[in-house]
Amino acid sequence: MTGPRILAVCGSLRTGSFNRKLLDLAVAHARALGADVDVVDLKEPGLPVYDGDVEAQGLPAPVQALRERLGKAQGLLIASPEYNSSIPGGLKNAIDWVSRPPSGLFKDKWTAMMGTTPGPFGTARMQPHLRQVLSAVGALVLPTQVHLARAAEAFTPEGKLKDEARMKEVDALVSALVSRLKS
Ligand code: FNR
Repeated sequence: MTGPRILAVCGSLRTGSFNRKLLDLAVAHARALGADVDVVDLKEPGLPVYDGDVEAQGLPAPVQALRERLGKAQGLLIASPEYNSSIPGGLKNAIDWVSRPPSGLFKDKWTAMMGTTPGPFGTARMQPHLRQVLSAVGALVLPTQVHLARAAEAFTPEGKLKDEARMKEVDALVSALVSRLKS
């Protein structure tokens, strides 16, 4: 018997992303709890920018592939930076593509949100926007989330969080997601 299937997504495409480090910690905890986690690197599918003319000719293969991966998942785990106080374009573009044509792929999927920034806000301005968008496509976003400020000082060279209390917050969020998916 396998554990709940989770699609994990990082909103940053760059190598060395702090959000990818945060996501990796969350994924490790989810796997330790028995979840089957598929990690999407948004750089890898090579998604085009959403264009209704392209959609009218049939969904591009990278979009189909991402849709299939989301279709197999029961829940979502997202770690994303904040760009200009909102959702990075690459992540929003991926959500827009997967929501087309309206297909219910996000519907009733429990989702955990996290984010980290080098500055003091830890994606506090982005996350309400992401919550709104995810709700619009039918996902169920957990009421708690993780905001990690001062990302450049937060991680050890091995990629762990220096502050044990913050690590517990990440683990608690992931545990809440996994227990929702098991119930
Ligand atoms: C940023 N950054 C940023 N940070 C922040 O706290 N609030 C913001 O509104 C923005 N806006 C913003 C816009 C754009 C276009 C970029 C490229 C960056 C800085 C951002 O938090 C920083 O680059 C993070 O390190 C990005 O996350 P990753 O890539 O480390 O995961």
